[in-house]
Amino acid sequence: MTTTLLRGRTLSFLRWPETADDHSAYSYEEDGGLLIRDGRIAAAGPWAEVEKQAGEGAQRIDHRPHLILPGFIDAHVHFPQMQVIASYGAELLDWLNTYTFPEETRFRDAQHGRRIARLFLDEMVRQGTTTVSAYCSVHKASAEAFFEESHARDMLNIAGKVMMDRNAPEGLLDTPQSGYDDTVALIEDWHGKGRQHYAITPRFAITSSPQQLEMAGALAARFPELHVQTHLSENHAEIAFTQELYPWAKDYTDIYAQYGLLGRKTLLGHCIHLSEREADVLSDTGSVAVFCPTSNLFLGSGLFDYQRYRRRDKPLRIATATDVGGGTNYSMLRTMDEGYKVIALNGEKLNPFQSFWQITLGNAQALSLADRIGTLAPGTDADIVVLDCAATPGMRLRMERAGSLAEELFLLQTLGDDRAVREVYVAGRPAKSDMATPAEG
Ligand code: GUN
Ligand code: ZN
Repeated sequence: MTTTLLRGRTLSFLRWPETADDHSAYSYEEDGGLLIRDGRIAAAGPWAEVEKQAGEGAQRIDHRPHLILPGFIDAHVHFPQMQVIASYGAELLDWLNTYTFPEETRFRDAQHGRRIARLFLDEMVRQGTTTVSAYCSVHKASAEAFFEESHARDMLNIAGKVMMDRNAPEGLLDTPQSGYDDTVALIEDWHGKGRQHYAITPRFAITSSPQQLEMAGALAARFPELHVQTHLSENHAEIAFTQELYPWAKDYTDIYAQYGLLGRKTLLGHCIHLSEREADVLSDTGSVAVFCPTSNLFLGSGLFDYQRYRRRDKPLRIATATDVGGGTNYSMLRTMDEGYKVIALNGEKLNPFQSFWQITLGNAQALSLADRIGTLAPGTDADIVVLDCAATPGMRLRMERAGSLAEELFLLQTLGDDRAVREVYVAGRPAKSDMATPAEG
C-alpha cells in the first residue's frame, strides 16, 4: 500500500460559488494536508489533523507555498488535431476540409496514432489536465492507441472513435454498420477497463447520414450508461448546411433529439447559436453544452452566452473545454482566460472562484463523474494539480499586489499556463515530474 502525504494550500469546491464572497462554496486550508492511499484521497483538511492520520511510512511532499487543487478537466478535445492547431485563416467548414480532415486521415497508420496519443497525454499532464473527453479519428486503431496510452498511465479519460460516413474524404469514412461494429468492439474492450470510459461519438450531423445517426441512437439505447459526444450549433454555415441535410427537423437540436442522442450523458460541443426552443430541449433532457472559448474565437464561430444559459428559467448544464485543434491552447487556465473575455463581450463576468469551480467540480458534474474526480473529497481519486502563482517574473511581480485568494486565482487564470503547473498527480502518483523530456519523438 503506497501512502503519500501532501502539504500545501488546498482548495476544493463544494458547489457553484454565487459570488466572490461566497466562502461556503469551497473549502480552503492555508496550511492544508492531503493523505493519499492507493490512488485515492484518504483524508483532507488542516495539516495538523491530516498528518495525525498518516502512518510512519508515508512519503511526505511539501508543496508550500503552492496551491493544491483537483486536476483540471477538459470536456471536449480532439487528440488527432495536435498538428492542426495554428492553421491559418478559415471558418469551421473550410477549416475542417482544408486542414483537419486531411490530418486525421494520417491516423489510419496505427503507429502514428500511438505516437500522437503519447504526446497528447504528455501535454495534458504538463498542463495540469488529468481528465479529458476526447474525440479520436474515425479509425478504430486511433481509439485503441488512445485507450492503451491512457490506461498505461492510469488516467481517467473518456474517448470514442468518431463515426462519420459522408461529407469527408474517402480515407475518413466508415459506414453505418462498420461504425456501429467498431464502436461495440471498442466498448467491449475498453469501457470500464481500469479508469477508461467510452463515449459514443458521431462527429456531427453533417458527416453522419440519417442511417448512421440511427445506429448511434441504437448504441445509446443499448449502452445507456455511456457518454455521447457530438457538435451542435457552432457556426452559421454549418447550421444552414445541416438544415439542408435534415429538412424535416425543426432545427439542429431536433436532429439529435429524434435519433435519441440527447440526455444527461450527452456532451454537445459549442451550442453557440441555439434558439430558445433548442435551449429548452437541452435543459429538459439534461444535455450538456460545452463552451470552447479559444476555438470559438479562433474560428470566428461566435460568443457562447454562458451567463444567459446558466440563468434562464430552464438553465443549461455547462462544461468548458479546449477543443484543440480548433482551440488554440491545451491549458485550461488559458481557456478560462479567453472564456472570461467571451463572457465579458456578452456584458457579463465570471468571477475567479466560478472559473476554477468550472474546470474542476463543474466539469466533473457535467461529465456525471463528480463522485470520482473534480474535488479533494476523501474517497475520490487522487488526480491533483499543484499551482505556482509566481511561476514567471511577471506573475511574481503581480503577486506582490495580490491580497486575496480571489486575486491570486484570477492572476493564475490571466497570466498562467503550463509554467504555473508545478506538479500533477494521476491516481496519486507524481506524473509531471516523472515525465521524460517533454513532448519529444
Ligand atoms: N465540428 C465537426 N468536427 C469538428 C471539429 O473537429 N472541430 C470543431 N471545432 N468543430 C467540429
Ligand atoms: Zn470539437
